[in-house]
Amino acid sequence: MSQTVSYLYAEHREYVSDKWASYLPVYDRWFASYQDAPIHLLEVGVQNGGSLQIWAKYFVNAKRIIGCDINPKCAQLEFDDPRVALVLGDVKAAAVREQVLAHTEVYDIIIDDGSHKNADIIKTFKHFYARLAPGGIYVVEDLHCSYWAKWHGGLWRSDSAMEFFKSLTDVVNLESWGAKLLPANWVAKLKTKHHSRFKPADYADIESICFYNSMCLIVKGHGPNSIGGRVVAGDVALVHAALPKPGSAMPVPFQKKTFKKLKLKN
Ligand SMILES: C[S@@+](CC[C@H](N)C(=O)[O-])C[C@H]1O[C@@H](n2cnc3c(N)ncnc32)[C@H](O)[C@@H]1O
Repeated sequence: MSQTVSYLYAEHREYVSDKWASYLPVYDRWFASYQDAPIHLLEVGVQNGGSLQIWAKYFVNAKRIIGCDINPKCAQLEFDDPRVALVLGDVKAAAVREQVLAHTEVYDIIIDDGSHKNADIIKTFKHFYARLAPGGIYVVEDLHCSYWAKWHGGLWRSDSAMEFFKSLTDVVNLESWGAKLLPANWVAKLKTKHHSRFKPADYADIESICFYNSMCLIVKGHGPNSIGGRVVAGDVALVHAALPKPGSAMPVPFQKKTFKKLKLKN
């Protein structure tokens, strides 16, 4: 019988893993539908290696469970499970990313539990969101560091990880911005300090973003996020008779101010 993440953490006796208590039920809720799937998982930040062992127990049919850590001491870690492998080095280095991607070109689950420095979180997301499979989940842990100066964060600090992910919530609603003909290569003047050439179109397939205490989960959809056609059910309309055409698209009104704010030219 499948075990929950919470149960596996409570029972775990091998290499140590260190996570906050509130994360475990979040993982139980979000990972349940992947538990039996042949997934590829990447965790940035391995430390003592326990989380990789637990993911291997939890995702019974996982194909690969890859951990990446900058600490050379992680080379001592040995895993009996052949599905688990380590990549040693700074996840921000192109050569290290190449090694991570040599195991598989796309990952179904990516967990960033690395340095927690705000710039690193954003840069890692920039590089790896593109390698998240459609339907996959990208998790950022320990976002409390986004508020702390030691990690180059602070409340509402424009270059913090939280402000970056908050700005992505607007991208979920990209089709409603009302700035017609937004070019795919348009580079946003959003929180770009740690994300060179932030193109909203690169994230147009984000299906949802969910924030929990210190966590952010980003789900990639299977294509550009769309509100879909109008669903009109029922035969009797006593209050509002002017019904929209079933299946019709959302008529997005042109937003002149937004258009100007984005500095787009006619
Ligand atoms: C919080 S620990 C990871 C804990 C582990 N995921 C667990 O659940 O037990 C953070 C790890 O990230 C690693 N790390 C820090 N910066 C990194 C970077 N730039 N690239 C890869 N790993 C990094 C550190 O060496 C450290 O072992």
